[in-house]
Amino acid sequence: MAEDMRVKELKTVFSPEQIAMRVRELAAEIDSLYGQEPLVAVCVLKGAFIFFSDLARSLHNQNMELDFIRLSSYGMSSSSSRHVILNKDVEVDIRGKHVLSVEDVVDSGYSMRFLLDRFAARQARSLRLAALVDKHERRQADVTVDFAGFRLNKGFIVGYGLDYAERYRTLPGICEIIPE
Ligand code: IMP
Ligand code: MG
Repeated sequence: MAEDMRVKELKTVFSPEQIAMRVRELAAEIDSLYGQEPLVAVCVLKGAFIFFSDLARSLHNQNMELDFIRLSSYGMSSSSSRHVILNKDVEVDIRGKHVLSVEDVVDSGYSMRFLLDRFAARQARSLRLAALVDKHERRQADVTVDFAGFRLNKGFIVGYGLDYAERYRTLPGICEIIPE
């Protein structure tokens, strides 16, 4: 999607209530899988920050640590890129612990493939992925979303942490951008 695209309309696809309900369901699934086992929940900045804070507060694991990473693709383009860089790494030691990466949108999958490959070298006990939105049909890299909030196969979405050229992150629901 071009950076200079003009927005005609923002159409709500998932309301704040739908998101809150789905986040609680995901948290219940995650709790039942890990119980009280040592877990590092990793927020993929920036897009996942609101999802991550809601999800983390719904989990009951007392042995959970939180950490943050920042990935970016070359350029500011909102189209997916194979060229991913790690701008900020985790700071806690993940060795021997379960790791749950928490991402906003998994699209082509190149970003998460890159991240999971980096983590795989560090002897975590397990590596799993939660994503607010799984654009499953657009996948090009081999990535499985273990905990998917919603599935979408088209449209560019913003809100609830997600941006278009750094805008719209604070919208309470998830909206599709309808271009002019
Ligand atoms: P992937 O590497 O192609 O899977 O790209 C995933 C990244 O693209 C996500 O972390 C988002 O930053 C971004 N992205 C993909 N689709 C959307 C969208 O609809 N809205 C906002 N960001 C998106
Ligand atoms: Mg992202």
